[in-house]
Amino acid sequence: MDELVALCKRRGFIFQSGDIYGGLQGVYDFGPLGVELKNNIKQSWWESMVYENDNIEGLDSSILTNPLILKYSGHEDTFSDPMVDCKSCQKRFRADQVPPECKEEDLTEPRQFNLMFKTNVGPIDDGDNFAYLRPETAQQIFTNFKNIIDSTSKSLPFGIAQTGKAFRNEITPRNFIFRVREFEQMELEYFVNPGDDEEAHSSWVQKRLDWWVNQGVPMKSIQLYDVPKDELAHYSKKTIDIMYEFPHGVEELEGIANRTDFDLGSHSKKQSELNINASVTKNKDSNSKLAIQDENGNWVVPFVIEPSAGVERGFLAILNEAFSVEKLPDGKERTVLKLKPHLAPIKIAVIPLKKNNAEMVACAKKIVKELQTLKIGRVVLENTGNIGKSYRKHDEIGTPVCITVDFESLEGKGVTLRDRDSMEQSRIDSNNLNEIISSKIKL
Ligand code: GAP
Repeated sequence: MDELVALCKRRGFIFQSGDIYGGLQGVYDFGPLGVELKNNIKQSWWESMVYENDNIEGLDSSILTNPLILKYSGHEDTFSDPMVDCKSCQKRFRADQVPPECKEEDLTEPRQFNLMFKTNVGPIDDGDNFAYLRPETAQQIFTNFKNIIDSTSKSLPFGIAQTGKAFRNEITPRNFIFRVREFEQMELEYFVNPGDDEEAHSSWVQKRLDWWVNQGVPMKSIQLYDVPKDELAHYSKKTIDIMYEFPHGVEELEGIANRTDFDLGSHSKKQSELNINASVTKNKDSNSKLAIQDENGNWVVPFVIEPSAGVERGFLAILNEAFSVEKLPDGKERTVLKLKPHLAPIKIAVIPLKKNNAEMVACAKKIVKELQTLKIGRVVLENTGNIGKSYRKHDEIGTPVCITVDFESLEGKGVTLRDRDSMEQSRIDSNNLNEIISSKIKL
């Protein structure tokens, strides 16, 4: 973990937020390379959900959340963690995360602590006019269910996908970006006919595993945890957690829950007409029936399968898998991030052999401009004048391909292509560059 944290800071992936003022615990900023990697992870998820499935639609809902949503979802009553104080070190911990130095007899009895952030809305700060910062992206998917059905004419099974920020006032944020107070989720709510839920659940577990493998997180680093009944969230009939071997231990990367008809049932009006399976609180405030009519005119509240992944945890897992330190034949070491090309923050670096040779630099810039038209992501000019150093830097940040422009390039004799993983160099005709690059950086 220490090596990853150091690399992230040194190369501009991740910084402690507000660090010039001492930072803010559990909050991080993503730098120039971090924002690219994060966007690429979210884009890959979005493509696998929305673009590759005709029956999945996207959504981008608000972060500020009407408190009634989180009342009926159950979050106001149940979204809490047990907290204890240590009378000796004067610190506060989540009850299951007390460090071994704190003695049992110094700890207070656990008290429940709600994890939702509240903020004042409008000019009067009297405690009544507030909204929550959403603790998960899922809830506004449920509250938009009718809007989306009405505007897209979907029938079961279909899904609504959303990526975006979520906020939790974690008692003990820790392990770098693993447990933080502000993070992003990638959530799908997949609506199915009751009775089809168990099969859909198993199928989504497999699809999500395949997706992680395609991002460079291999099955050997993954374990599945079938969450026991007494640990299930209040809405879940069954949850399989995808557990990953993080540098600090095996912990949850993504959860795939069978949420039954709990959510739509909870947020619906006229619940008594709907034959809801789950045990829900009587809803006196909703103005919408969150159900659909079958061919016989009967109201059906769909069951929901929810694959829910954290972007930061994905980022950490992908970085951890890609990170390697290799011994070179000359005895030196190189650090290389073997990221899948579609995730790499920089796709191509074009390097002029001589930084002060105007013709060579102009030729390199022309190649950069041409490759940028391929829309494969960032293509940059690396004009340091030191080829060895440039290769090392781009190995360390995961750039899959470097292109070197030299004196022969100026005579129309092609450019050198250098592969990050094999370090092999090949001479190629500049006229074939676009085609070769497109095939190497498959998106
Ligand atoms: N809608 C369901 C839901 O939010 P969750 O298990 O509480 O379920 C889903 O969260 C995912 O969000 C987790 O698997 C994890 O990847 C991520 N996540 C949750 N809390 C987090 C935190 N404090 N910091 C970073 N990621 C978090």
